[in-house]
Amino acid sequence: MNNTILEVYNLQFKRGNREILNIDHFALHERETIALIGPNGAGKSTLLQVMALLLKPTRGTVEFRGVPATPRNALAIRRRMAVVFQEPLLLNTTVYENVATGLKLRGVPRQEIKKRVGRWLELLGIAHLAGRRSHQLSGGEAQRVSLARAFALEPDVLFLDEPFSALDFPTRLSLLNELDRLLKDTGIAAIFVTHDFSEVPYLTDRVAVLKNGRLVKTGTFEEIFKVKPRRENYITSLYRVFESDAAG
Ligand SMILES: Nc1ncnc2c1ncn2[C@@H]1O[C@H](COP(=O)(O)OP(=O)(O)OP(=O)(O)O)[C@@H](O)[C@H]1O
Ligand SMILES: [Mg+2]
Repeated sequence: MNNTILEVYNLQFKRGNREILNIDHFALHERETIALIGPNGAGKSTLLQVMALLLKPTRGTVEFRGVPATPRNALAIRRRMAVVFQEPLLLNTTVYENVATGLKLRGVPRQEIKKRVGRWLELLGIAHLAGRRSHQLSGGEAQRVSLARAFALEPDVLFLDEPFSALDFPTRLSLLNELDRLLKDTGIAAIFVTHDFSEVPYLTDRVAVLKNGRLVKTGTFEEIFKVKPRRENYITSLYRVFESDAAG
């Protein structure tokens, strides 16, 4: 098995008296993509935020490359991670500045910032929007900015919380394909929350199932779903029909 990049042990997260998470052990390996699935309220977003060191667990350890997170090293570890939330949460400035700001905060030199922002805007097909202010973007465009911002940080770990749920199907399909390629090319490890099982075959080496704050299953797609992962599904076929209709 690959080396572990992120690992949690004996993890508990409580809000007031309510236990939201209780996870004995969970590990993400180098270059791996895990799909995190489970019903509403299962604790998926909370787990992502605990692992991204945005929420402090009530008990237990989050380890990054074998080093337990502490208040002293948390910022340094957080800088190796990027999070894409369901809602893009853009700053009220231009697309360019939205992607550049995190790099500025990390002290990346100006020329390098220019290069990286340009590259990721290009890769996500939004270079023409660089000067556009964030409130003048469509939902899909804003989501692309949010993804460009995360990738430009060149993180070691990427957390994606239902990043496509508000997008139309063609946009979602093209972003899934792009993201799949980007993750493979960059070797970034990722955890991807989704409710749409048709997305799972795209971005998944393993699937983790969370219920009531507990990991009830982890395994390969086939082990969890008892079928072979196939990207071709009826929705994709429908899209093909739609595409050929549009073309004809
Ligand atoms: N800020 C908060 N204050 C109090 N309770 C919260 C808060 N955020 C989440 N919770 C509760 O914690 C539990 C887990 O929430 P979480 O958002 O992690 O679930 P989820 O699996 O991401 O659900 P969904 O699929 O709906 O996004 C839920 O019962 C939720 O009501
Ligand atoms: Mg959630």
